Amino acid sequence: MSEAKRRSQMNAIEAVLEFMKSAQDPTVARWHLLGTGTVGELERKFESYYGVPHALSFSSATFGLYHVLKALGLQAGDTLITTPLTWGGTIAGARELGIEIVFVDVDRRLGISPEAVRNAAEVHPGAAALLAVDIFGVPSNMRELRRVADEHDLAYVADAAQSFGSIDKGRPASSFADVIVTSLGPGKGLTGLEGGMVMAQCADLYAQLVWQSQHPLRQKRELGLRRTNECALNGRIHPVAATWANAHFEDALCAIKSRSKMCSSLLHAVSKTGLATVSDVLLDAENELRFPSVVGTWGDARYPERLLKALREQGYEVKSVEALGASDLLPVQCGRMCRAEAKKCFPQAVSVTENSFCLSV
Ligand SMILES: Cc1ncc(COP(=O)(O)O)c(C=O)c1O
Repeated sequence: MSEAKRRSQMNAIEAVLEFMKSAQDPTVARWHLLGTGTVGELERKFESYYGVPHALSFSSATFGLYHVLKALGLQAGDTLITTPLTWGGTIAGARELGIEIVFVDVDRRLGISPEAVRNAAEVHPGAAALLAVDIFGVPSNMRELRRVADEHDLAYVADAAQSFGSIDKGRPASSFADVIVTSLGPGKGLTGLEGGMVMAQCADLYAQLVWQSQHPLRQKRELGLRRTNECALNGRIHPVAATWANAHFEDALCAIKSRSKMCSSLLHAVSKTGLATVSDVLLDAENELRFPSVVGTWGDARYPERLLKALREQGYEVKSVEALGASDLLPVQCGRMCRAEAKKCFPQAVSVTENSFCLSV
């Protein structure tokens, strides 16, 4: 573990111990019910980082996404357009709500293709929302997706679970969305060990989220209500998770920044080896994309050991080459179609799972 990381861990441990001591006071122990104290502090940091007016923490990104779709008023039979190349948590809430999910292919950034969303919105004119994902932390094309969402009156929801700290032309990945959901789960760029954060542009949507997911004390404090919703489906983050994430916030951003820099030069190094290719969209400096992962694609032959050796010889500390095809695309996993059908419908996404790899650094 690097010295910086060790120091950051020690700070976080001290912050948690301090919190646990102070939480012996019953007044302090209620702060997170109110959305104040460590929870409020973390939410202010996310608002400021993403430049959005409202952040609300959750127990996980999965549950945050569920609440977002519910707060947007999506219900059984409504249509949501999303990508097949993601983790199941992206659509778990939609499935629970009985929402009709339309999968469309990805583009060369690996995120949902704006053109494919446009086509799907024409085929499904009543579609309510698009749900984009910054898979592997690579920013999806938020500027084009914003345009398509506006053209077709779609709510633009972003699953930014993997992209905290990623940048697209100077702006946080997915910050053009109406609602952004990120994860504070294990292994994420910023972790509370568990947790999620929802950021909303619209005050009404935020109020609905507070009403349906937070404690009546918070509903009363923030919404000024006399009658509160005691039957809210509790989505609160644990205050220790918030404390842990709070203590790491700035250090995590610094670490992601330097890792992204290294990944960017590693992407170029991979492409120079001639053993694999990298999407030109990710290599092109004009796109000004910054993200902490390295995804490459094999040509006709696969030489993971030779690739590792070539990169190590150039001074990069690469641990391993991981195939991306460990799990099937979501529509196949969900039993909606077989792999052959998926290949026809989502050639780009299938090609990623079959031919691409991620470098573990
Ligand atoms: C793309 C994506 N969406 C959603 C989730 C769910 O996040 P959480 O574990 O916080 O529920 C994850 C978790 O890894 C993810 O990678």
